[in-house]
Amino acid sequence: SSARTLIRGGLVITAADEIHADVLTEDGRIAALAAHGSAAAESWTADRVIDATGRYVIPGGVDAHTHMELPFGGTSASDTFETGTRAAAWGGTTTIVDFAVQSVGHSLRAGLDAWYAKADGVCAVDYGFHMILSDVDERSLKEMDRLVEEGVTSFKLFMAYPGVFYSDDGRILRAMQRSARNGGLIMMHAENGIAIDVLVEQALAEGRTDPRYHGEVRKVVLEAEATHRAIQLARVAGAPLYVVHVSADEAVAEITAARDKGLNVFGETCPQYLFLSTDQLAEPDFEGAKYVCSTPLRPKEHQAALWRGLRTNDLQVVSTDHCPFCFTGQKELGRGDFSKIPNGLPGVENRMDLLHQAVLDGHLTRRRWIEIACATPARMFGLYPRKGTIAPGADADIVIYDPHAEQTLSVTTHHMNVDYNAYEGRRITGQVETVLSRGEVVIDQRTYTGRAGHGRYIPRGTCQYLV
Ligand code: URP
Ligand code: ZN
Ligand code: ZN
Ligand code: ZN
Repeated sequence: SSARTLIRGGLVITAADEIHADVLTEDGRIAALAAHGSAAAESWTADRVIDATGRYVIPGGVDAHTHMELPFGGTSASDTFETGTRAAAWGGTTTIVDFAVQSVGHSLRAGLDAWYAKADGVCAVDYGFHMILSDVDERSLKEMDRLVEEGVTSFKLFMAYPGVFYSDDGRILRAMQRSARNGGLIMMHAENGIAIDVLVEQALAEGRTDPRYHGEVRKVVLEAEATHRAIQLARVAGAPLYVVHVSADEAVAEITAARDKGLNVFGETCPQYLFLSTDQLAEPDFEGAKYVCSTPLRPKEHQAALWRGLRTNDLQVVSTDHCPFCFTGQKELGRGDFSKIPNGLPGVENRMDLLHQAVLDGHLTRRRWIEIACATPARMFGLYPRKGTIAPGADADIVIYDPHAEQTLSVTTHHMNVDYNAYEGRRITGQVETVLSRGEVVIDQRTYTGRAGHGRYIPRGTCQYLV
């Protein structure tokens, strides 16, 4: 179609600028921006005019870390690609990068094709894939090259979860050497899973079975040690490294030290580490299970290092690691044994709002909010400037955000397919009002107008932070 939409009178915020501008979209892309009230803007005609007076006009969020339908611990993450991407749209996120999984003994191709099939024709917003490497051997190393060419340009490795996703240092080094040659980006789950499993066994043997012990055995030093080791292996391989879900102050320090040496080491954190803590993990009546994820929630004191890292650019991205499991029937699998609680928290719908609240709380500037939630994840994973900004030629993925609306996060109002909200009762100033995905209005003044299958698969380029 040649539908033209004019978004008039808002404050356009990107990672670079804040300008009072009108935005014209045409054929799913941003056609032009012009100063509000300028002769150019006043001359535009459109099929639809959206009044954004008093609102922010921001790029659609890019959530670079989600796990729709992830099989884990004998169950599966409760959001499908259909429900999870719809919830993303509600929360102002118009692109997700999810993780296809290689099964042990199987090819990357087989895993990736299975994930293409899960998402095909059901997503509400656009999506791409990273690949989880569970079985690094000669065949899968060769396959990495083909995946990079195909648009799957990043690979997650696990130093945690022995017997499931775990790779030893030799396999990690080989995958890093390969990515140094083919342009792929290694994403690391940095926790010493071998040591953690010893502590898990000892805790259970001593009858320490409650959810809070999940946090106690997954020690800060075992995140910091794995982060340090991953950085050294990446140095040996000459490869860039992206550390996912950083939760501990000592892990931030390792990343900061590496960056101060000039290394291409990047760090991601998640809203749960910025806003929640071991206080939630210790909730009585097994409620703490709702907050079991890995890396685990940390004591509150760690939050300052994460906020500081985001300010100083030692951490560059906030993604959700959205991996929801219902309390009833899923989290409950771990009653009497915290190691059987499926790991993961819901959050894809709440990220943009929580980070806007962080702007109001003085942790971030408005432009930094857009940078860590939209622009940098798009650049990191080869989606920029198609995604992550508002500029001529970019996809018309736009959020009209009301910075003064008051809302309370709750399971009773959210759209994620999970029976609790990790931020239940939290008051937020600011709310998504209208969302465009490739020029189509998918949320219209807090009403869903999108459809399953509107979202398209987006093949990605390589990381745009490497010279
Ligand atoms: O607890 C988590 N984070 N679950 C999802 C899988 C992962 O390690 O990211
Ligand atoms: Zn005007
Ligand atoms: Zn992980
Ligand atoms: Zn994850």
